Amino acid sequence: MMTTGKSILITGGAGFIGSHVVRLFVNKYPDYEIFNLDKLTYAGNLANIADVANKPNYNFIKADIVDAAQINTLFETHRFDAVIHLAAESHVDRSITNPMDFVMTNVVGTVNLLNAFKNLWKGAYEGKLFYHVSTDEVYGSLHDGGFFLETTPYDPQSPYSASKASSDHFVRAYHNTYKIPVVLSNCSNNYGPNQFPEKLIPLFINNIRHNKPLPVYGKGENVRDWLYVIDHARAIDDVFHKGKTGETYNIGGFNEWKNLDLVKVICKTMDEKLGRPAGESEKLITYVTDRAGHDLRYAIDSTKIMKELGWQPSLQFEEGIAKTIDWYLSNQQWMDEVTSGDYQKYYENMYAKR
Ligand code: NAD
Ligand code: TYD
Repeated sequence: MMTTGKSILITGGAGFIGSHVVRLFVNKYPDYEIFNLDKLTYAGNLANIADVANKPNYNFIKADIVDAAQINTLFETHRFDAVIHLAAESHVDRSITNPMDFVMTNVVGTVNLLNAFKNLWKGAYEGKLFYHVSTDEVYGSLHDGGFFLETTPYDPQSPYSASKASSDHFVRAYHNTYKIPVVLSNCSNNYGPNQFPEKLIPLFINNIRHNKPLPVYGKGENVRDWLYVIDHARAIDDVFHKGKTGETYNIGGFNEWKNLDLVKVICKTMDEKLGRPAGESEKLITYVTDRAGHDLRYAIDSTKIMKELGWQPSLQFEEGIAKTIDWYLSNQQWMDEVTSGDYQKYYENMYAKR
């Protein structure tokens, strides 16, 4: 799409992936007017994008995508030509305790954005785009080998993935019914700087630092396919600019790890970085009650985006994980700030009973 001088709404830009997308777009495309819309939930943190806050093409809007009236007004005021939609409730464990938050933000919030886009442009969609960022978890769980393809039938297994699957269906339905120009991408597990420490990698890095137990769910045999967050942001840039309207692109690093093996790599690297004796951090591994309905394996086939859009991951996992650990160790203030307050309560509730 043609975007020079255009007004682009990025939702969820104070969160983990959104902050990397906002940074990439603000710095790489000075001609775009970027609007970062975020409710600043527990997962949203303006410190994640403090470095671009003063750029002339950057604007921040504190708003809730569940509030349809507010969202419609913002679309009328700023006349967003394109939307890159990342705002979501994103943690599977929270979706098990509070599914309705996921229905509201992920489903109702997404439909509110689609309606606002439709109401604003009323069929005059030349040069406009609604880009919905989704997850590989919509495809369910792999048990007998193979990979998730763009054509794999949806089979969500958690309230989180069900809410994301629902939002994906709405986006495609609006494309089919109202001809809204859309594009979607479904990505595997991300890791890297600025991830809220409820997710496996930053949680375990923080616990190792504090010599706290590392709660491995079940036997640690579940498999995830990990991609460095900046490579996801680069893929989003490619899909936004080169993706074909109406299409979906799977994004992944062909980088599968069994949880326990991944945790051992983190422990070993942390021992080296913290100058602890080899094997010290592994002693913190504690097996706890498994997550309810825990998906066994996710694995993305990203051949389509690689072939059609020329995207490739830039980092090998060993390099990415070392960079990630370095970032958390040299940004301890960030970690201390996000783990103060409500985080302690969350942690107690989530792990006390396991
Ligand atoms: P995150 O939880 O770190 O950030 C989500 C952001 O959305 C936060 O800044 C939060 O304040 C904001 N938000 C939440 N509810 C909102 C609402 N009602 N209105 C406005 N803003 C709201 O999430 P993330 O890990 O950065 O994920 C971003 C997107 O990418 C999500 O759509 C997620 O489903 C998708 N995704 C994530 C991963 C992953 O590994 N983290 C992988 C694939 C896809
Ligand atoms: P997570 O980072 O929550 O991502 P997702 O569930 O979306 O894949 O979890 C990654 C894997 O790590 C998943 O198999 C669950 C497991 N896990 C643990 O073993 N212990 C933990 O404390 C957490 C948060 C996750």
